[in-house]
Amino acid sequence: MFKLENVTYKDVLDIPELSISAGAITCIIGKSGSGKTTLVKLLNGLISPTEGTIYVENEDIKEMSMVQLRRRVSMLQQSPSIYEGTLRENLQIGRFFSELEPASDDEILDVLEVVNLDKDLDQDASKLSGGEKQRLTLARMLLLPADVLILDEPTASLDEESAHTIMSRVLQHCIDENKSVIMITHADEIVKSFAEHLIELKDGKVSRDERVEPTWTQK
Ligand SMILES: Nc1ncnc2c1ncn2[C@@H]1O[C@H](COP(=O)(O)OP(=O)(O)O)[C@@H](O)[C@H]1O
Ligand SMILES: [Mg+2]
Repeated sequence: MFKLENVTYKDVLDIPELSISAGAITCIIGKSGSGKTTLVKLLNGLISPTEGTIYVENEDIKEMSMVQLRRRVSMLQQSPSIYEGTLRENLQIGRFFSELEPASDDEILDVLEVVNLDKDLDQDASKLSGGEKQRLTLARMLLLPADVLILDEPTASLDEESAHTIMSRVLQHCIDENKSVIMITHADEIVKSFAEHLIELKDGKVSRDERVEPTWTQK
């Protein structure tokens, strides 16, 4: 799905070679400042490499329009953005930015169930707790039709127990919808449970790149 060749980004990242295949759950780990967010921003075109080439399904990312790329790759940013307005508006805004028709109420209720958020859609989103806001932004992302979802620390505002519950539901949903997932996480428990491909960054370089066996079994 993604292939990197001789990619550098300023003096932050240096990756001679890296492949991420479709259909697997990839976890990216590493200390704070090791370059994880920079790597995923390169994958979704938010920034461009200083040198080297990134391929998405054999197509050079440079040759793709933003619209083409967004249809394939969506990203949940590290600090979830909540906009002024209701839950419903916050869920629809992702589709609006992607120039898609609004989601139906059925689709909305479906993704809210996945993230375990049982709230009135007309409620003001600013009143939600940190964990609820994070689940709301996950639900927003699940309403996008992209083939690849990139999640930058999606459970940072959740306690360990709900992190596991929410992620198993979100990942099951992604598997059912044939979406690939690339997830940055600090939580060992999440990595052990879900990772099939583990990439570790150290000072901007890949220090580990291996297939691993998750303890979680899909339905
Ligand atoms: N646009 C940029 N230009 C230069 N340096 C950057 C840029 N963005 C991030 N950095 C630096 O790159 C390093 C890696 O940052 P980041 O990718 O956010 O790490 P992580 O997500 O692993 O914590 C940090 O030292 C950060 O200060
Ligand atoms: Mg980061």
